Amino acid sequence: MTSTLVHNIGQLVTNDPVHDGTKLGVIENSALLIEDGVVAWAGPDADAPTHHIKRKLDAKGRAVIPGFVDSHTHMIFAGDRSKEFRARMLGETYSAGGIAHTVEKTRAASDELLRSNAQSLLNEAYSTGTTTVEIKSGYGLTVNDERRSLEIAQDFTDETTFLGAHVVPVEYKKNPKDYVDLVTGPMLDAVLPFSKWIDVFCDKGAFSPDDARTILKAGIAKGLLPRIHANQLQEGQGVRLGVELDAASVDHVSHLSEKDIEALSKSKTVATLLPGAEFSTRSAYPDVRPLLEASITVALASDCNPGSSYTTSMAFIMAIAVREMHFSPEQALWSATMGGAKALRRDDIGHLFEGARANFSILNADSYIHLAYRPGVQLIEQVWRDGLQIK
Ligand code: NIG
Ligand code: FE
Repeated sequence: MTSTLVHNIGQLVTNDPVHDGTKLGVIENSALLIEDGVVAWAGPDADAPTHHIKRKLDAKGRAVIPGFVDSHTHMIFAGDRSKEFRARMLGETYSAGGIAHTVEKTRAASDELLRSNAQSLLNEAYSTGTTTVEIKSGYGLTVNDERRSLEIAQDFTDETTFLGAHVVPVEYKKNPKDYVDLVTGPMLDAVLPFSKWIDVFCDKGAFSPDDARTILKAGIAKGLLPRIHANQLQEGQGVRLGVELDAASVDHVSHLSEKDIEALSKSKTVATLLPGAEFSTRSAYPDVRPLLEASITVALASDCNPGSSYTTSMAFIMAIAVREMHFSPEQALWSATMGGAKALRRDDIGHLFEGARANFSILNADSYIHLAYRPGVQLIEQVWRDGLQIK
């Protein structure tokens, strides 16, 4: 058995309310025992086990937090869209149309290039404290390009999502129904071995609620689990469709009606907010307060993609959420860890309960508040995943 005791932790965030009666479950002056890749014990330093400890690690009074769970990324693509970003910053409006550019570059790229691009993004994510990522396809939009996107994604994570219904590709613009048939037929069959989830971009310029329902139901019938891009660009039926189909998460949700909030509050569907997209498309940020007041579970994720949110930094996402969307620093950290885990319906990650995977970061700061208080500063000093130090 391998055991490591991280001791002299100034502030340990466990997300286990048993410790302090709050959602973050903070233990001051604490220690964390890891055995065989999982959390074996967390508590006050003074009570830390002393027997059979193979390695002791001094956290030097710093804060320790659960690894970030980034439950929404699009990391399989080639090319960049910096010119499109520049144009937006000079006044142009974001539309789903830019996706076509990335589709062209992705189709032309070799497997090796797609894999090495994804690896670089993952390295960024790991070094900034993310220990679990979800990865979507959606820039291939042919049977073969969607299949290889997911095959590559599966090399990096178990949380792979088929997003063949990202937009209708140019060659199907005149007969979009045929594209829906392709997605729900041969494309779905080809990606099945490499996919856990199915997603649809249900919005202006993408797929209608009816097509989204057809596509999600086809995936569910083949054993995939639903999630949905909904209400990013405008209000619509996407959120309620997600709830109707018991989606694990409805994502973006930047435009919510009272009916949407009511539907979400009666479900176990998580609302995942992606403020990197508002940042990068210069759009209005949604306000988290109505969601929290309705007791809806809220996650934060990066939406890492070359068009609307080209960041892998969950700390940056938290900083925006706190500054612009009325998250408290506590809620932002919870949403970036436990919220992400719930959006993936995982109970082994996103927290440091006994038995959880030992995924955590040691900060170069005494308090988790610094993650939002010191935006743009790399505060993640060490990262551990399944009990192994990866940074
Ligand atoms: O989540 N909203 C749809 N898809 C991506 C954007 C994709 C792109 O612009 O390339 C998103 O923001
Ligand atoms: Fe997205």
